[in-house]
Amino acid sequence: MRSTGLIQLDVHLTDADAALRADVARGLVARPKELPPKWFYDARGSELFEEITALPEYYPFRTERALLTDSVADIARSSGADTVVELGSGSSTKTRLLLDAFAAAGTLRRYVPQDVSESALRGAVDELHRHYPTLQLHGVVGDFTRDLDRLPGAEPGGKRMIAFLGGTIGNLLPGPRHAFLTHVRSVLEPGEQLLLGTGLATDPAIMVPAYDDAAGVTADFNRNVLRVLNRELGADFDVDAFDHVALWDAENSWIEMRLRATRAMRVRVPELDLEVTFDEGEELITEISAKFRPETVDAMVAEAGFDATRRWTDPQDRFALSLLTAR
Ligand code: SAH
Ligand code: TRP
Repeated sequence: MRSTGLIQLDVHLTDADAALRADVARGLVARPKELPPKWFYDARGSELFEEITALPEYYPFRTERALLTDSVADIARSSGADTVVELGSGSSTKTRLLLDAFAAAGTLRRYVPQDVSESALRGAVDELHRHYPTLQLHGVVGDFTRDLDRLPGAEPGGKRMIAFLGGTIGNLLPGPRHAFLTHVRSVLEPGEQLLLGTGLATDPAIMVPAYDDAAGVTADFNRNVLRVLNRELGADFDVDAFDHVALWDAENSWIEMRLRATRAMRVRVPELDLEVTFDEGEELITEISAKFRPETVDAMVAEAGFDATRRWTDPQDRFALSLLTAR
């Protein structure tokens, strides 16, 4: 990474290895078996997610981008933030719309992207520096469910807006989701803002293919978590012996992604001194993507101490962008 005074990169993942071990040791003996989704995102996983955003079936990315295009001028004008923080920023592609609008409004001084994927974050910071040579870039490699306290504070007299886009909040279960929002609220000063992107519940015939595309990119992304375990923990998962499953759980209002063992097998995880068996057809839960209604978004953020200030939805009501203010 170029080191000019404008660029800083903090890495807060020192105990990532211990966290991976704990998650895998717990998840592989749970019933049903499960793995937390953040382990999808090694360098290859982050690249596969970028491919997902370009798939014809993956409407959330394009829909949110269109909502941002329509709303950024209003957001920047009403916000006045000098610092844009983004959680789970990935490649920061959509963020450029925000940065352009805040720059045009004349308030922007600093962008703080945070992501668990160091490779994605480094790539994004490099690319952004080329496009915004005078912007302060302060990247933070970390886990947004644990490391929010490590985010930089407001500049004296300044104001921050935290962006959490991509519907990533839907990847958290209800308990952790509430804890996350409450934590975000606690690191903000009253009047600071959260820009939240949420998928909305719509026709399953639209939602399911977004997580089970014809080209099989999402399937490959899902299986990538097994490759991560093979590499990091010396596991011997036969990655191709798992089918990708995506289904709509109407009761919980979420898409659930699983990996289904196509045959009975025994898997060794030497680094954990663990051996687990899969029955033929047994499923491992890897990810949920909750879909909301505008009213459930309002209730969820109100409980965490935010007021809903503005909301933008697409004409087909598939995605919502909510500008929230810390009470
Ligand atoms: N915001 C981007 C990317 C969404 S994909 C967009 O809207 O297109 C989800 C992103 O969150 C990935 O970049 C992934 O690396 C990151 N991520 C997932 N779990 C995380 C965690 N616990 N902490 C920090 N980042 C996480
Ligand atoms: N935040 C994205 C979403 O819920 C993450 C995602 C997209 C994802 N496609 C996926 C996660 C497939 C796991 C598998 O839309």
